[in-house]
Amino acid sequence: MTLVTRLTVGFLIVVICTISLHEYRQLDQAQGDFERDMDRTHLLVATTLADAVEQVAPHEGIEGALQTVEVTNQRRHGDLRIRWVCVPGRLDVPLPPRACATLGVPEPLTTTEQTRRFTLAPVHIAGAWSGAIEVSESPDHEGQWARAHFNQAVLLALMTIFGMTVAAFVLGVWLVARPTRALMDKARAVGRGELEPDIQLTSDDELSEVADEMNAMCRQLGQSREETARQAAARLDAVEQLRHADRLATVGRLASGLAHELGTPLNVIEARAGLILEDSSSEPPVQNSARVIITCTEQMTKLVRQLLVFARPRTVELSSTSLDGLAHTVVDLLGPLAALRKVTLATASVTPTPVRADGVLLQQALMNLVVNALHACREGGHVTLTTGHAHAPKPNGTTPQDWSTVSVADDGSGMTPEVKAAIFEPFFTTRSAGEGTGLGIPIVASILEDHGGFLSVESTLNQGSTFTIHLPVESKAA
Ligand SMILES: Nc1ncnc2c1ncn2[C@@H]1O[C@H](COP(=O)(O)OP(=O)(O)O)[C@@H](O)[C@H]1O
Ligand SMILES: [Mg+2]
Repeated sequence: MTLVTRLTVGFLIVVICTISLHEYRQLDQAQGDFERDMDRTHLLVATTLADAVEQVAPHEGIEGALQTVEVTNQRRHGDLRIRWVCVPGRLDVPLPPRACATLGVPEPLTTTEQTRRFTLAPVHIAGAWSGAIEVSESPDHEGQWARAHFNQAVLLALMTIFGMTVAAFVLGVWLVARPTRALMDKARAVGRGELEPDIQLTSDDELSEVADEMNAMCRQLGQSREETARQAAARLDAVEQLRHADRLATVGRLASGLAHELGTPLNVIEARAGLILEDSSSEPPVQNSARVIITCTEQMTKLVRQLLVFARPRTVELSSTSLDGLAHTVVDLLGPLAALRKVTLATASVTPTPVRADGVLLQQALMNLVVNALHACREGGHVTLTTGHAHAPKPNGTTPQDWSTVSVADDGSGMTPEVKAAIFEPFFTTRSAGEGTGLGIPIVASILEDHGGFLSVESTLNQGSTFTIHLPVESKAA
């Protein structure tokens, strides 16, 4: 049974009970009123007629008085009967319901006997009691009146019940069934994953409060769904990074093995080519070939050395080092190379910046960056080393922290976004074969990682690049 039906039935039961009780009381009261009215009329008629008989009897005798009563009786309406009972000396006139002697009738009297209701008014002729005027009526008339009244009451009750049923049903559908259906539809939609907080109930009642709560729930569910999606994406990212690191480790192991294998034959080739070159009996074309072999072997030896640096497990020996001192050393060491390429290499605003680091590894990292910068510059270019501090999060991190920095800025070729995105890949190089190995930046990155730091890059094509080494600020306790 639906809620609306239940409400309607409950409502109806209450209405039927109330109306029935009310009508019963009404009917009871009306019946009492009716009887009182009837008695009053009967008494009026009886006493008036008794007076008339008392007036008439001395002049026209008992006969005349009886005649008067009979005339009045004939003019009566409906069931009403008027008689003079217990007339002295007359046994022929109708007897009263009881013997007049037992009645006594000292005062007007109303009584119900058998099937009629009687009222008696005493008659006194010449000071002596001379019977009574009896007015009687059957209660049938009263019954008819009561039935009519009862029918009317039932009709009224039925009409009221019908009206209220319709009203209860219509209101129930409008106020309860309709909003409940909307809430149910929304609950199903939520089940299907549609989380728009779009349910609108115009009424201002408990159901509209439920709708508001449902909208709030949808909003919260939507937020948690977004949060879950974000976390899933972050997990995927982390897995992808792990895979990448795994690939790098494999490449490292491969490279290391290869470098070891290549090292010895390369040494042999170089030594043999050296012997051919030293042999004065060999022809000039042969000596030229030997020279080419030596140049190529040297390039390969350089690559093998870098591969070993990249792949070898490093032990980092931390000690107090200063980035400013390191910057000056690197400028001194690479000054001749810069002069050769006609590039200005200098330090700028280098302040004392102590860090805890492996000085040898850090110098190697800084030299890689400076050599790259020198290569990127044309004649007349500038490469500048600067030390400083930064407050920034790690790449892929969220909480910013303090760093000691040393940057290498150049006004050389700069990089396209694609090149910039690829430079951390081992063996990625834009330089011609034999010149670049594509290991410089991966080596810098892995050295910094071993120190708990990182490398950041800013670059604009044709304007220059800035590579910045970030190292954790030396703690006071260290
Ligand atoms: N300062 C710079 N300016 C422009 N491009 C650079 C700079 N440093 C590095 N690159 C780019 O990054 C690439 C990779 O550098 P690196 O890993 O040192 O390998 P390699 O120097 O052997 O090419 C370079 O080939 C170059 O394209
Ligand atoms: Mg390089």
